[in-house]
Amino acid sequence: MAATSAFRSGLFNHKVAIVTGGGTGIGKAIATELVELGCNVVISSRKMERLESAAQELKEKIAPSSHASVTPITCNIRNEDEVKTLVSAVLKRYGRIDFLVNNGGGQFSSPAEHMSSKGWKAVIDTNLTGTFHCCKEVYTAWMKENGGVIVNIIADMWKGFPGMAHTGAARAAVDNLTKTLAIEWASKGVRVNAIAPGTIISKTAMENYKEYGPTLFKMSVPFSPAKRLGVPEEISPAVCFLLSPAASYISGATIRVDAGQSLYHSMWEIPDHSAWPEAPEGENLDTLRELLNPKSKL
Ligand code: ADE
Repeated sequence: MAATSAFRSGLFNHKVAIVTGGGTGIGKAIATELVELGCNVVISSRKMERLESAAQELKEKIAPSSHASVTPITCNIRNEDEVKTLVSAVLKRYGRIDFLVNNGGGQFSSPAEHMSSKGWKAVIDTNLTGTFHCCKEVYTAWMKENGGVIVNIIADMWKGFPGMAHTGAARAAVDNLTKTLAIEWASKGVRVNAIAPGTIISKTAMENYKEYGPTLFKMSVPFSPAKRLGVPEEISPAVCFLLSPAASYISGATIRVDAGQSLYHSMWEIPDHSAWPEAPEGENLDTLRELLNPKSKL
């Protein structure tokens, strides 16, 4: 059965949202729920073909009586001029921007020691600088005068992000950016919050990881207290909540939507080794040695 919003129908009638990365995965689920709630949604990403097909899919779900609409607009969020063009196109078409959901991003897995400077910069540029571009442009062009709500989608990087240092650093930075903007823009009636999803499986994520997808996703199941992965439709309600008047007193917050995954154990295996520096000599180190290599009492 298709997911149906827990929120009241018409909740976002006459509102306008931009969802970056809105054509696939979590972004598509957010766009779908916003549309279901009557919102006019602009989905944006770099690839028009994917956007067009997602927009078509979303449009088919809009009831004739609904106020909702979907508009696909391409934009590379790394490029400030393209972000400016996106925001002005949305204002031209709809005359307002109530919500910005910064979901667009990307990364690849690699140990830090093998990451090239180019690869590192590309991920920082998309996930951190791209988010900054979108926040700044939507704020200066609309929200500074009219208020609004911003939700940044980050990640479970609370224990570092071994295997994806670049995205961990970028998402942690967006967590901090969220707090800064929540304070700097409070006096203009702009709320800024973030959602940190746990491991989420989607059709597109599986396709992106190609033949490694099934192994990667299956491997992560035991690391969730839920003993299953999440789906994008379990992230979008938290976003809708933060965008809604039910969250009118919430700003600068990051909500973990991860079934407690971030409180549980890390997937990164540390092999047994003897490379660690010795502890200082003394009775306590003797106790430690005795624990590990008990002397025979015979
Ligand atoms: N999703 C992934 N990379 C992106 C980019 N550079 N611009 C917009 N959406 C993206």
